[in-house]
Amino acid sequence: MALGTDGAGTVAARGARVRRFNEGDAVYAYDYDRRGFYAEYVAVAANHAGHVPATLDLGHAGAAAASASPRLQGIDDALHVRTRDNVVILGASGAVGHLALQFAKLRGARVLAIASGGEGVALVRGLGADEAIDGKKEDIAAAARRFAPQGIDAVLALIGGASLGHCLAAVRAGGRLAYPNGVEPLPKKRAGIDFVGYDGVAGVREFARLNARVEAAQLEVHIGAEFPLAEAGRAHERVAAGHVLGKIVLRV
Ligand SMILES: NC(=O)c1ccc[n+]([C@@H]2O[C@H](COP(=O)([O-])OP(=O)(O)OC[C@H]3O[C@@H](n4cnc5c(N)ncnc54)[C@H](OP(=O)(O)O)[C@@H]3O)[C@@H](O)[C@H]2O)c1
Repeated sequence: MALGTDGAGTVAARGARVRRFNEGDAVYAYDYDRRGFYAEYVAVAANHAGHVPATLDLGHAGAAAASASPRLQGIDDALHVRTRDNVVILGASGAVGHLALQFAKLRGARVLAIASGGEGVALVRGLGADEAIDGKKEDIAAAARRFAPQGIDAVLALIGGASLGHCLAAVRAGGRLAYPNGVEPLPKKRAGIDFVGYDGVAGVREFARLNARVEAAQLEVHIGAEFPLAEAGRAHERVAAGHVLGKIVLRV
């Protein structure tokens, strides 16, 4: 089976019962189970695809496909982020985090972005973070307490471990933590904090809502590096080397 969970392209053919799409439509899609996106053609269930939002080109929509929907659902549905909530995004300069940050700002939250490295901090500041630190060098708990002396309302965790422990130390009683399943090590429950692990859900309504938010936020999708499909191996080496800002894409 070909690798690849997400991408964008134009519809070459549609199933007999599909009404939402026409041949030639620009679409973006993701499917964690069926995969197969490292290819010139991929068959996708119609409910796993959406029209490319008006504010994104094909390349950036492809880069956002698998990350944007779970991020929106993390911010809106799992954390129920509200105006003026003090929110921490841990892992904010990664594929998912830099999009989640923008969705949290769209909800009117104050966001402390915990990024990786100086370029990561610069990226998240440019995307609207109210405060940003390098989580690998700076004291996360102290930064969170400075940011919200009355306590953090909500944390979206894209990494686990000690850094998450430092964040949780600054969460107020009754605060919330959400993490997409797959985050390691698995976050450990703490008394007084609501924990929600979740998976991104694809669907017709989900894509409609996602597109509305992507356009309202004028979502910026950061492509950290791009490789031709024939050099997918090099792309994997780049991922393995670590410290990718945003997302890596393969161009077909
Ligand atoms: N269940 C679902 O639906 C779903 C969907 C998508 C993703 N996920 C999960 O979500 C998680 C995040 O995915 P992703 O694609 O965003 O991964 P990613 O791009 O690797 O993002 C993680 C980010 O955290 C940074 N980081 C590591 N340690 C840090 C620290 N101490 N302080 C600040 N930043 C730190 C990393 O930087 P460096 O690279 O420089 O270390 C990286 O930028 C993964 O566990 C993935 O499995 C789940």
